[in-house]
Amino acid sequence: MSGPTPRVRPGLVSDALALRAIRLEALADTPDAFGETYEECAGWTDEQWALKARAWNFYLAEIDGRVVGMARGESHDGRPDTRWLFAMYVAPEARGGETARLLVDMVSAWAASQGVDALYLYVATAVPRAHAFYAKVGFVETGPTLTMHRDESLVCQEMRRDLTDFIFHVHRVEPAILYELRRRVLRGDNPLADVTNPGDNLETSLHYGGFIGERAVVSASFYEVPAPFAPDAPAYQLRYMATDYDVQGQGLGSRLLAQVLDDLRRRGATRVWANARTSAIDFYIATGWSVLENSLFVSAETEIDHVVIHYDLDRKPTPH
Ligand SMILES: CC(C)(COP(=O)(O)OP(=O)(O)OC[C@H]1O[C@@H](n2cnc3c(N)ncnc32)[C@H](O)[C@@H]1OP(=O)(O)O)[C@@H](O)C(=O)NCCC(=O)NCCS
Repeated sequence: MSGPTPRVRPGLVSDALALRAIRLEALADTPDAFGETYEECAGWTDEQWALKARAWNFYLAEIDGRVVGMARGESHDGRPDTRWLFAMYVAPEARGGETARLLVDMVSAWAASQGVDALYLYVATAVPRAHAFYAKVGFVETGPTLTMHRDESLVCQEMRRDLTDFIFHVHRVEPAILYELRRRVLRGDNPLADVTNPGDNLETSLHYGGFIGERAVVSASFYEVPAPFAPDAPAYQLRYMATDYDVQGQGLGSRLLAQVLDDLRRRGATRVWANARTSAIDFYIATGWSVLENSLFVSAETEIDHVVIHYDLDRKPTPH
């Protein structure tokens, strides 16, 4: 299928009516795929749908602003340590494209962020297209089956997807691994921008990447440079802190910093400081940094407003 690219996003409480519409469409379209029935859910009031929109961890797929799919990511009453994909549905006009995979990937990323290494689901043998789709995106049958409460002739197979490709992990890297991210996020993807730093290959410089699977999505580099306001304290200057556009706002930058600041403390540093873009101040303050008073200046390199920020490693523990 070609055409406009689907967009997948977490559902909001304000999406209650859209949730009702797509869920009822799913139950009417493929009754054998789901534990609930159309009749049951069609009777729910607006207030009940508002409660569902608040309680469910759901995701919507849209094409040109129209909702064409949904999925839920939840834990399992009987198996609280596992995470599950439920209520997966793509409208007929959006099948055979990227919509279903994008929904499953977003639920997989959520599950990985919950600290599990697999996503589970039940799929009814009555919907072979769904089974074929799940197999295509890496779900494998685990063996156990169950029957639906409302109709014992409907058998469901349990499937499991390995989440290695979605798990966020942080480790030290060679600086060149991070150049692409520096260029894309911090230099407006300018192919001519110089994203190297003269200090990159010094033995004292430390470069960290935050990875989802093998893809670097967060970068941060630390150079052994004293803070201008405390020249005698052992310190690192943070530069090139960047999170890739599509995964911003998910807490990955904070997770990287929490881990790295612990590492720097263990290495004997007492201060970390940076010239931070004013647009990023909220992020730094939320993760425990302070802004140096009267430090506003315009960077000669990027012509963007900056302030000096600092994190005192010997004063308080890193927030996790
Ligand atoms: C399940 C669902 C989300 C999958 O999304 P999709 O966009 O249809 O998935 P795709 O088209 O990418 O993949 C389906 C695969 O099944 C194949 N297929 C189609 N009809 C099939 C059938 N009757 N039997 C077996 N395979 C079938 C397709 O050829 C495709 O494989 P291919 O890409 O290798 O050719 C969507 O079909 C849907 O919403 N179905 C109704 C609700 C449902 O069943 N939900 C599942 C609840 S567990």
